[in-house]
Amino acid sequence: MKGLILSGGKGTRLRPLTFTQAKQLVPVANKPVLFYGIEALVEAGIRDIGIIVGDTKNEIMEAVGDGQRWGVDVRITYIDQPEPLGLAHAVLISEGFLGEEPFVMYLGDNILKSGIHSLVKEFEERRPNALILLTEVPNPQMFGVAELRDGKVVRLVEKPKQPASNLALVGVYMFDHHVFEAVKAIKPSWRDELEITDAIQYLVDHGYAVQPHLVSGWWKDTGKIEDILEANRLILEGISSRVEGEVDEASRVNGQVIIEKGAAVRSSIIRGPAIIGAETEIVDSYIGPFTSIQKKCRIVKTEIEHSIILEGSEIVDIGSRIDDSLIGREVRIFKCPPKPQVYRFMVGDKSEIGLK
Ligand code: TTP
Repeated sequence: MKGLILSGGKGTRLRPLTFTQAKQLVPVANKPVLFYGIEALVEAGIRDIGIIVGDTKNEIMEAVGDGQRWGVDVRITYIDQPEPLGLAHAVLISEGFLGEEPFVMYLGDNILKSGIHSLVKEFEERRPNALILLTEVPNPQMFGVAELRDGKVVRLVEKPKQPASNLALVGVYMFDHHVFEAVKAIKPSWRDELEITDAIQYLVDHGYAVQPHLVSGWWKDTGKIEDILEANRLILEGISSRVEGEVDEASRVNGQVIIEKGAAVRSSIIRGPAIIGAETEIVDSYIGPFTSIQKKCRIVKTEIEHSIILEGSEIVDIGSRIDDSLIGREVRIFKCPPKPQVYRFMVGDKSEIGLK
């Protein structure tokens, strides 16, 4: 069985971060989202992995490399998608790599808590033509939605206005080579993309076996900031303490906290679950639960909770607590002199700032 991870796309919903960074490399608990997918495939015994890349090809290749860090026998092949013409288009252009072998298709911005080991096993044992993962969601209008009858998939609709069920398609699919017949036959949708839901519908309509599987653990698509923060919270909930940096006597560390090498915590409180990246300095500050601070940051006289701070950022002397925030790389947030009473901004395109 091979793997196909989709790591192209536009990432418009994550601007401004995605003006300068691939969305699949945004860190969750200080690890790029994409790595969770690669690990899930490797854990399921898949060694031959194709990664679809677009405009952000170079940084994806730099971050992932040849795959050896996940095992000496792991092979990564990069597949260029000149334009993000849809998930089914990504399958279409991968026929050369996938050949006749069945494969797992994994959206590079998705995290699935329970991994995919048992699903791959189920697929290999039962050998349907496709296996799709479904999960119950409160807002099916936002997803690809499946309609089941007698335990079988009868219809799939992309972002339906009037959903027939609350079962959303999770971003992990398994196919055998019949999917190529489908992706070659379907036409682009109103948004000019080849939709994977249309390809699966084609399989259903042409009598191929499409097996549904309800996901038990949590699943997150990290396409939007709220989802990244939520994924960060869910991953941090499962961490165990590890202190490799320095914590001085005037500081307190409670709960599950990872403090990476070269980090320094002085006169501060860290209340886990939280992770402090390598060579980051925390001084006279409070870092609250569900916070991930990447490497080489400086946090001084500041309170932060339920947030992600990317590498090289500096936050100094902020009067109120920072909450529910995603702060990019090398950002500086600092206090202005008390007079005149003004805000001073140097903010990139499509940024968002909430003021009281
Ligand atoms: P999406 O999140 O559906 O699409 P997007 O990346 O264009 O994001 P946005 O809607 O915010 O503009 O894509 C899911 C995953 O699949 C993501 O990792 C990007 C990847 N992808 C491709 O590799 N090729 C494509 O043609 C598309 C549409 C997505």
